Amino acid sequence: MAFVERVFSGVQPTGNLHLGNYLGAIVNFVKLQQTHNCLYCVVDMHALTQPVSVWGGPLELARNTREVTAAFIASGIDPKKHIVFNQSQVSGHAELAWIFNCVARVGWLNRMTQFKEKAGKDRENASVGLYDYPVLMAADILLYRATHVPVGEDQKQHLELSRDIAQKFNNDFGDSIRSHGFNSGLFFPQPEPLITGPATRVMSLRDGTKKMSKSDSSDNSRINLTDDADTIAQKIRKAKTDPEPLPSEEKGLETRPEADNLVGIFAALSGRTKSEVLGEFGGGQFSNFKNSLVELCVAKLSPIASEMKRLVADPRHVDSILVDGADRAREIAADTMKATQDIVGFVRKH
Ligand code: TYM
Repeated sequence: MAFVERVFSGVQPTGNLHLGNYLGAIVNFVKLQQTHNCLYCVVDMHALTQPVSVWGGPLELARNTREVTAAFIASGIDPKKHIVFNQSQVSGHAELAWIFNCVARVGWLNRMTQFKEKAGKDRENASVGLYDYPVLMAADILLYRATHVPVGEDQKQHLELSRDIAQKFNNDFGDSIRSHGFNSGLFFPQPEPLITGPATRVMSLRDGTKKMSKSDSSDNSRINLTDDADTIAQKIRKAKTDPEPLPSEEKGLETRPEADNLVGIFAALSGRTKSEVLGEFGGGQFSNFKNSLVELCVAKLSPIASEMKRLVADPRHVDSILVDGADRAREIAADTMKATQDIVGFVRKH
């Protein structure tokens, strides 16, 4: 059976939405609207997996949920043509996650590098939710039987787990799936990660070997989507570089992580390739290149920041977008949940 193509992706409302989130994910969300039916989700249930000190408590969670929604819309996502909502409003995410908890294996979760990174040394003290994070993520995607998932490079392993869960569910329940009219024996598709563009892994401005991250204690390590022009300029001018001039060819970036990162950011923001960027700036000093990068960043990000500001000033409007999106998401989710319950053997009202 050919699955209807559908896009799903999510962003956590944990504050400090940054250039990595924008270039690695949101820019691709915007593009995919032209070719696919898309669902874009603010994954508030995932935010809870970290200690309260990280996600900031109830008021911050609500504020950040609205801010991510505002970022989606300010970046060009159309919540009327597509679906924008927050995860906790659709109960199917948690319900399907439970069933997937019983499909996924402990050994699979033990291999997840993001859990190891986030739990750190004190693994005993990590929440069960953090360990289970990738299973909820599989439920997010498969609740809509989504076929394509635009994400940054760091989510690749989680997407592989989603594919494994889909496959094992289809295998474990194959006969039941067929007897419920899915003659191919495939109920869930294996979602394909879409990791595209020159900035699938944007690095910290202070250390080119570390990912740009919401939780880095140094605000200078990232460009936030809410930063004003002066802050952007200051952060880029302070960004770590090396003493050599920029290389003329992409190969020359291989051993120079900071240069590679800045050129990648420039390429992604200008819709060019890294070699095209080096064609213009190769052989020159960083100071000149950084001035152009500041200009480009400010030109691209300032309109988004001001539209975000306008939107978050009207929380009732933002909430109405999320409520409307959740109503439409719930309809798709209900079909999947009913069929899943039948396939598993849960008795329900018909
Ligand atoms: P989150 O909120 O951490 O990140 C949101 C998106 O931004 C991408 N990203 C980056 N891309 C490039 N460079 C970076 N430095 C960078 N940092 C983050 C992430 O890859 C992601 O695409 N687990 C997801 C949220 C999620 C989800 C889902 C995604 C929950 N359920 C279902 C897809 C499908 C996450 O880490 O979000």
